[in-house]
Amino acid sequence: MSSTEHTIISPAIMYWGTPVVLVTSENEDGTSNIAPISSAWWLGHSCVLGFGAESKTPQNILRTKQCVLNLPSDAMGDHVNKLADTTGSDPVSASKTSRNYRFVKDKWARAGLHPQPSSFVAPQRIAECPVQMECQVTAVHELMGDLPDRRGLLIAIEVRVLRTHVLQSLRMEGYPNRVDPDKWRPLFMSFQQFYGFRDGKVASSVLGRINEEQYRAFTKSDVKKLPGDDDDQIAVAEDRA
Ligand SMILES: Cc1cc2nc3c(=O)[nH]c(=O)nc-3n(C[C@H](O)[C@H](O)[C@H](O)COP(=O)(O)O)c2cc1C
Repeated sequence: MSSTEHTIISPAIMYWGTPVVLVTSENEDGTSNIAPISSAWWLGHSCVLGFGAESKTPQNILRTKQCVLNLPSDAMGDHVNKLADTTGSDPVSASKTSRNYRFVKDKWARAGLHPQPSSFVAPQRIAECPVQMECQVTAVHELMGDLPDRRGLLIAIEVRVLRTHVLQSLRMEGYPNRVDPDKWRPLFMSFQQFYGFRDGKVASSVLGRINEEQYRAFTKSDVKKLPGDDDDQIAVAEDRA
C-alpha cells in the first residue's frame, strides 16, 4: 500500500484533538456545576461550544445566559477523570445511564477543585485552572436540524468572552495581553484520550472506556437517508473479505 493511499472509514465520534474545557454554570438553587467538554473553538472573543442538549450544563447556560470556560493544564487529567462519568442532572438520562454516568451534586468536592468568584457572571471560576474565561451567551444553534429524529439532540452555544484570567506565570514577558505559548500546556482530547504538547498520552482517560460506537446515533438519521450514511459498514465489509 502506498503512503498516500486513503481508506474510507466512518468514525462514530469526530474528536480530532481539541482542548479540554471545564465549563462552570449555575444550577437552579445557586450552586454551581462543572462539566468537561472539548467541543470548543474561539475566534476573536467569541467562542462556540458544542453540547449534548440533555446535559445539565447547556440547560443551565440557556437559562442563565452565563458560564465560565476554565482551561485545565496537561497535568490535570486526574481532575477531569473524576468528572468524566458524572452529570449534574437528576435523574440521569437513559442515554447516560447506558454509558454508566451517575448523578453528582457537588462536582467540586468530587474533582478536588476549588471555586473563585467571577467578576461579571454568577458561575464561579476554578482556581486550579491556569486560564478562566467569563462568558455570556450571544446565540444558540441547533445541530442536525435537517434530521427530524435527531433535531435538538446536539446544540452549539455561542458565547462572548467578557473577561480572561490567566496565571501570571503564563504571560509573555514584555507584552501586557499575551500568553506565552512556550509556557502554556493545555490538555487536549483526541478520540476520548488525553494528550499534551509532549509526546504521547499524558494520562489514561476514564471517558476512553466508553465504546465509541455508543455515539453512532449522533452520526445519522433513521428516517432521512444521506450519502455516506452506511460508510461505517465499508471497513467492516473489507475486514471480513
Ligand atoms: C474530556 C471530556 C470531553 C467531553 N466533551 C464533551 C463535549 O464536547 N460536549 C458534550 O456535550 N459533552 C462532552 N463530554 C461529556 C460531558 O462531560 C458529560 O455529558 C457530562 O455528563 C456533562 O455534565 P452535566 O450533565 O453535569 O452538564 C466530555 C467529557 C469529557 C471527560
